[in-house]
Amino acid sequence: MPAISRRTFLQGSAALGGAFAFGAGMAARASATPDPQLLTAQFTQAKIAGDAITPKVMTYGLGDTPAEGTPPVLRMRKGEPYAARLINRLDEPTTVHWHGLRIANAMDGVPELTQPYVYPGDRFDYVFTPPDAGTFWYHPHCNTLTQMGSGLTGVIVVENPDDPAFDAEVVLNLRDWRLGAGGAFIDPFKPRDAARGGTYGTVRTANWEQEPTYDAPAGGLVRVRIAATDVTRIYTVGLDGAQAMVIALDGNPVDKPFALDRYDFGPGQRIDLALRMPDGEGQTVALGNFRGSRPWTIARFKAVGASLKRDLRDVAPLPANPIAEADLSVATRVPVDLSATAEHKATPSICGSLGYTFWAINKVPWPGDTPDPIAPIEEMKLGKSYVLQIANRTPHAHPIHLHGLSFRILSSNKRTFLPPPTDTILLLPDEQAEVALVADNLGDWVIHCHIIEHQKTGMTGYFKIV
Ligand code: C2O
Ligand code: CU
Repeated sequence: MPAISRRTFLQGSAALGGAFAFGAGMAARASATPDPQLLTAQFTQAKIAGDAITPKVMTYGLGDTPAEGTPPVLRMRKGEPYAARLINRLDEPTTVHWHGLRIANAMDGVPELTQPYVYPGDRFDYVFTPPDAGTFWYHPHCNTLTQMGSGLTGVIVVENPDDPAFDAEVVLNLRDWRLGAGGAFIDPFKPRDAARGGTYGTVRTANWEQEPTYDAPAGGLVRVRIAATDVTRIYTVGLDGAQAMVIALDGNPVDKPFALDRYDFGPGQRIDLALRMPDGEGQTVALGNFRGSRPWTIARFKAVGASLKRDLRDVAPLPANPIAEADLSVATRVPVDLSATAEHKATPSICGSLGYTFWAINKVPWPGDTPDPIAPIEEMKLGKSYVLQIANRTPHAHPIHLHGLSFRILSSNKRTFLPPPTDTILLLPDEQAEVALVADNLGDWVIHCHIIEHQKTGMTGYFKIV
């Protein structure tokens, strides 16, 4: 499997050429809305567990013809309009949420709150301009455990022409599958696990393959974009056989790139690495998961060709994204308490219900995509600063994701390293963190745990910005 070469793409004015779906001529009509990419949600089948064929896999295809394999990496450009037409060829309603993109509320993809359900045979036009460059991802926000669990998780790359050059790029979409011995899907969750850390998959993949190997230029610098799109798994990534610098987290450049040792990241989160390939042709590098007692290999990189003899210190810093800094002297403080609950019955919904309530935010359980929206956690005023005091009152980790806004972690009783602004914070057991944001995007923005069983059994709420 060759890595996508960015060499050609980076040559002078050819930079606007073939590497993008829109092709040449994009510059001339930079501000006009492009024709929509057709994004067709559909069924397929795939070989995920060895040679067994898994039926009823869901994927997205570009265009309206049958697609196979992992959903396409969608490429957009910072500050340039993008359009996608979702076509629903599933047998149930769906939507698309653009995870981490700070776009208009009407494009956010949350049924009932921001848009209608897209029924089978229907379509929905998404049009927006991504304000930030980086690694993001997309997935449905309806019957989410089933739809994501069946395959609907794809990676978004928002390019910035001012990004530093790399010799190659590899995008890794990490996720598991709950498959039985014959390769067919088994129950998406176990209630007992949903009430704890979540239900794990049985087959672990990168780009729908077990331990894939990617060729990359020997001695070259590779930008590795990793997205954790699994519904449950928290990863602790590390490398064997090469050195890499962490250059961005959750789409945003780190202040100072640092060497990758072991890094924890949870469902919904991304990590961008600058990987320096070994010099010798055929040498391999293993990206592993070191969480738990038995580490395993996620993917490998194999050096090809004569060494390019690059140096990690050659990597120029990534330009920062335009995220407003909160004014802490006037910020309003908002408690966000995460807890377990046994109260409240789960009600059936068009977007599916797991039938249980296990979790709550500020003591209110809500699954997030039902026609009975609860009151917002807080009504925020456009342009004002807020500090969320997020307290995890449980013995489990929760990757908490906020739509439409980015926040900065100010402090925590469990961490010393403070990452750049983010859309998802992996709260550790009993962690209490303060995060700051500017309410600079109008509308209703959900905040929820990205362990989807937790989201769907109550750990969801929303902010209203007026
Ligand atoms: Cu990644 Cu509410 O979503
Ligand atoms: Cu959770």
